[in-house]
Amino acid sequence: GKDGYRHFMEKELHEHPVAIGQTLQRITDSVTRRIALPPMPFDVATLPRVTITACGSAFYAGMVGRYWLEELARLPIDIDVASELRYRNPPQPNHGLALLISQSGETADTLGVLRELKAAGQHVVSVLNVEHSTMGRESDLVLGMVAGPEISVASTKAFTAQLSVLAALTIDFARQRGLIDEAKERELTDSLLDLPSHAMEVLGLFDQIRGMARVIAQARDILYLGRGICMPIAQEGALKLKEISYIHAEAYAAGELKHGPISLIDPSVPVVAIAPSTILFEKTLSNLQEARARGGRILVFTDAKGAEQLKDIAEHIIILPDVNAFVAPILYTIPVQILAYEVALLKGTDVDQPRNLAKSVTVE
Ligand code: M6R
Repeated sequence: GKDGYRHFMEKELHEHPVAIGQTLQRITDSVTRRIALPPMPFDVATLPRVTITACGSAFYAGMVGRYWLEELARLPIDIDVASELRYRNPPQPNHGLALLISQSGETADTLGVLRELKAAGQHVVSVLNVEHSTMGRESDLVLGMVAGPEISVASTKAFTAQLSVLAALTIDFARQRGLIDEAKERELTDSLLDLPSHAMEVLGLFDQIRGMARVIAQARDILYLGRGICMPIAQEGALKLKEISYIHAEAYAAGELKHGPISLIDPSVPVVAIAPSTILFEKTLSNLQEARARGGRILVFTDAKGAEQLKDIAEHIIILPDVNAFVAPILYTIPVQILAYEVALLKGTDVDQPRNLAKSVTVE
């Protein structure tokens, strides 16, 4: 049941800390507190390339994974949504890795790519919530999330659990490829293990986020902006808003604003920014100043340091706990999803069963 919550989505939003914590617990050595993933069915040190694929929110999790794996494990990445990758037929290296991400393990296009990449000689590793699924059976290795059942059509805790697995995988790969020393590994791992308590703090922000939701609920179009590893979080925010509130939202890399979408900006098109002070902040700040100068209403998720610099241009600022930049995309997901939920409540939509959508898309 809903345990007293109004919707499954509200309940599942409150389960972020547990989903992250349990997922990490399963892949952390309890004595050394080091990441301890099962052995990979290939040599990580000589891995030539990784192909990441998924659909919807799981694809955005994969996008975050791309930034991590490129930056820290120095791996070349190809990433695409499964429905495109399936028909692109890109050249594959010998013994590359196909990394698939899915809550259900049943999504038709992701499964289609799994079969094709397997036939093309790639090792298949899947990040799944439902491990006893078709993808689970057909993968060489399953990295399970421990998010528990996700009932709401809009994915919430499965997304942060996916990110937790991908972050752990990045640490594991970087270590095996000799790219991080023990001190760096400790720093990254600790920042991950501290996440459940920071996620709990963020769950205290529902009331503040409601203020921001009131601005959004009156608009027809919303722009979500982010840079670097926060860009996929802007995409996740825009997708979630569209899904459950039926308000049109688009996500852009903040640097792309002046290449087109800035022409949309006026007081009727609010701009939501994902802007921790640790990630390309000065660049995002200047993009937001440009938007503000054109009458845009600026709504931001940042930390205390970022808030100081944004206070003159932003109408609503949600201040999140200070965290290592490594885990910021995981933490910033939570308020962005809460925002979509609060807007849907104001709109009075069917939050858990939005029109036209199914939880698991098993047809192409
Ligand atoms: O079960 P999967 O993770 O493979 O599902 C992928 C997408 O259908 C899913 O993430 C969808 O985008 C959600 N409704 C997003 O909230």
